[in-house]
Amino acid sequence: MSHKVLVTGGAGYIGSHTVVELLKANFEVIVVDNLCNSSRVALTRVEGIAGGLVRFYECDIRNSNQLLKVFRENKIESVIHFAGLKAVGESVTDPISYYENNVAGTVQLLKVMRQCDVRTLVFSSSATVYGDPASVPVCEGFPRSATNPYGRSKLIVEDILEDLCNSEAGWRVARLRYFNPVGAHASGEIGEDPRGIPNNLLPYIAQVAIGRREYLSVFGGDYPTIDGTGVRDFIHVVDLAKGHLAALNYLGVNEGLLTANLGTGSGVSVLQMVAAFERACGKSISYKVVDRRPGDVAQCWADPSYAKTVLAWEAQCSLDEMCADAWRWQSKNPNGFVI
Ligand code: NAD
Ligand code: UFG
Repeated sequence: MSHKVLVTGGAGYIGSHTVVELLKANFEVIVVDNLCNSSRVALTRVEGIAGGLVRFYECDIRNSNQLLKVFRENKIESVIHFAGLKAVGESVTDPISYYENNVAGTVQLLKVMRQCDVRTLVFSSSATVYGDPASVPVCEGFPRSATNPYGRSKLIVEDILEDLCNSEAGWRVARLRYFNPVGAHASGEIGEDPRGIPNNLLPYIAQVAIGRREYLSVFGGDYPTIDGTGVRDFIHVVDLAKGHLAALNYLGVNEGLLTANLGTGSGVSVLQMVAAFERACGKSISYKVVDRRPGDVAQCWADPSYAKTVLAWEAQCSLDEMCADAWRWQSKNPNGFVI
């Protein structure tokens, strides 16, 4: 009997890559997504890559009646919860939407899960919960803080999940703290497709390479780092996706709450990333060093050893593979999923 998993936000960037891995591992996959930041085409591509079918509901997680219907129509055993909003700048100008989607949406989901006696959940948390870390690499026990409403929404949901696990036996919850997911499926069929001007580094570089943007603005050249630019832990999205299957396996045999970093353990600077992308695409990437972006930290990378110990998972892909796969996706789909 195959295991039935509900993936909220499964049409999105990380969700679509995770659905591929779930189908390949013979899970039955049900996706709920309101398509506010994604395309239905992504799931068609996912089915093509994995050679399996996804049961898709165009539904908002805040709509508990629709969500209840999804749970009632499918004998869901566990949930991977990606649905939410993720643009830090937008969260500052529109905090209500962030608390409504990320916090209230998650509470609705948890209520329906409990009502339907489903108590296994993998939640997308973020390295943003570490705020400006006092040192690197960052371990799970480091103090948490938030500098913007997006980050605070992740902190609040982390706390809600901890309270829930303390309140009642039977919950099996993984809080996975992602570092910086990049890259795309090696087929070049699915990848990150930001709407409007990309906020994140790699999609921006890829759009410069394809000619959609003139140059990259490098936010700050005076950080106390190897070359003055920001340093992050970039992780291939397929490695990240596999981390979710490892978490589901873990929760299959362990009750309670798990909190784990998903990163590579290596820091890469903005300029090192530019150089790696140039190698991958064979073009030079124009850039200008400009002022720091408010709220950015100088450096942040993971200590990934806890995930290795408890989940038997570790990132495999190199920086060059991340860039090669991102470039394949970008060059095969210059306008993303808009055909
Ligand atoms: P994404 O925007 O590509 O995917 C999120 C998906 O959720 C989208 O398909 C969107 O349409 C859907 N969605 C949003 N609100 C919804 C709602 N109310 N009801 C139903 N569907 C809804 O983002 P992603 O990069 O795949 O991120 C997935 C999760 O991982 C998010 O929770 C994000 O905060 C978290 N995360 C992302 C990163 C990153 O850098 N990409 C880093 C750390 C954590
Ligand atoms: N950067 C540039 N130019 C750009 C975009 C980014 O120089 O056009 C720099 C940033 O200043 C930073 C690095 O590239 O030094 C990475 O920036 P990203 O925006 O790609 O990633 P962040 O680490 O700032 O943020 C990401 C997610 C957040 C999440 C955080 C921690 O976007 O949602 O990782 O997980 F909270």
